Amino acid sequence: MILRKNIKGIKVKVPARGKKRNYIYFDNAASTPALIPVLNELCDYLDWYSGVHRGTGYKSLLSSRIYDDSHDIIGRFVGADLARDTVIMVKNTSEAINKLSYRLQLDPADVVITTDMEHHSNDLPWRARARVEYAAIDNEGKLDTENLEQHLKSSYPRTKLLAVCGASNVTGHVNDVHRLAQMAHEYGCPILVDGAQLVPHQGFDMKPHNDAAHIDYLAFSGHKIYSPFGAGVLIGPQKTFAGGPPEHPGGGTVKLVTEDKIFWADPPDRDEAGSPNVIGTYTLARTLRYLNQLGMEKLGQYEQELTGYALSELQQVKGITIYGSKPRVGVISFNLAGIPHALLGAVLCFDAGMGVRTGCFCAQKYVRQLLGLAESEHYLELYDSGRMAKLPGMVRVSLAAYNTREEIDELVKWLKHIAANLYEYRRDYRFAASQGGYLPVDTNYAGELAASLQKYM
Ligand SMILES: Cc1ncc(COP(=O)(O)O)c(C=O)c1O
Repeated sequence: MILRKNIKGIKVKVPARGKKRNYIYFDNAASTPALIPVLNELCDYLDWYSGVHRGTGYKSLLSSRIYDDSHDIIGRFVGADLARDTVIMVKNTSEAINKLSYRLQLDPADVVITTDMEHHSNDLPWRARARVEYAAIDNEGKLDTENLEQHLKSSYPRTKLLAVCGASNVTGHVNDVHRLAQMAHEYGCPILVDGAQLVPHQGFDMKPHNDAAHIDYLAFSGHKIYSPFGAGVLIGPQKTFAGGPPEHPGGGTVKLVTEDKIFWADPPDRDEAGSPNVIGTYTLARTLRYLNQLGMEKLGQYEQELTGYALSELQQVKGITIYGSKPRVGVISFNLAGIPHALLGAVLCFDAGMGVRTGCFCAQKYVRQLLGLAESEHYLELYDSGRMAKLPGMVRVSLAAYNTREEIDELVKWLKHIAANLYEYRRDYRFAASQGGYLPVDTNYAGELAASLQKYM
């Protein structure tokens, strides 16, 4: 499998209660590892690296072209119309959505419709700028599109945006965003797709502007698509970003400044204040080019097969509850009866040498609803008493196109073993409030970490 061979760090072994185990990484929804061929290209390019845009040296001219052209490669990867859209480089999806919330110049009486299945990054930025309405989900965690349409209808014409995730970071559930775009456009409302969990797994097509299914705005993060160098993307119509001041004015955002006047630069420069992230932008463009060469469709199909396999194998584990429903990307959240999510995550880390995630995954409202818990006093009590790690939550396994069936078999083997030996694991781990989680009682975890750190710090 070519992608797996080219994943940086795939052979690393980690300490696991006195043994060394091959690290199995199942937290790709958080961040994916880097690609060796792209790292090699980056090393070559670093000979030519320079500050961009305002330098006259040859390296600066070359780096400026590389930086600017990378915008186009990134835009083309998701079907942006480069004659009408602008590709703005930011840090990540969170920054992209915050930027858009500012640049839409919303009035507090304007309405933004989002949904009950969003990551906090596609919820909180809107709360600060407009009246936010939430489209409901059903008890499987799917978006209730009838309810969404009711919101569009009842808040017409005050709705300035529908902001929805392409795929959930909790259940992996994939929204039919092109159908949602058609629906929103019928009410004169543009759509933002939070593509953080969709673009890396299935690619994306914003579709032409004259298509009713066109996606007006798209945000995604490089670090979730094999490019962990601090670059994220916001794409949208040039005309949105050609008006008004940016939220971060500064170097590079202007054409001319006098004592009392500012003539702002054209998009995207107006929205990329200060010295830009040349390396992050370059590596993201090279990564997307590499993925295109391998074929996004092929990678997506492989991930789909792997997800289907994982779901059917996980269902064999006694006491497991898996949340969410199809269609989905390879993000699978679950609980195992008789063991808190944080303890299960700790056992998978310290005993099995696996990286998963536990908790609410920055989507607390959605997780609470999936767990069938009301927004109760209990949460506030835990919060007030500083016992956040005791909040109800889930364990999340998130796959990428380099994971294998063997890795899933290993996970399922461990889960079955844990389910059959709950007493033992509850005995062998203690909740360490100061560390914010569970630790094995017989392992000098801090010492092992310090030894690994020595090499890098
Ligand atoms: C669906 C979704 N949206 C937004 C974000 C925020 O992404 P970032 O942390 O790169 O800003 C995440 C991160 O996990 C996510 O899963």
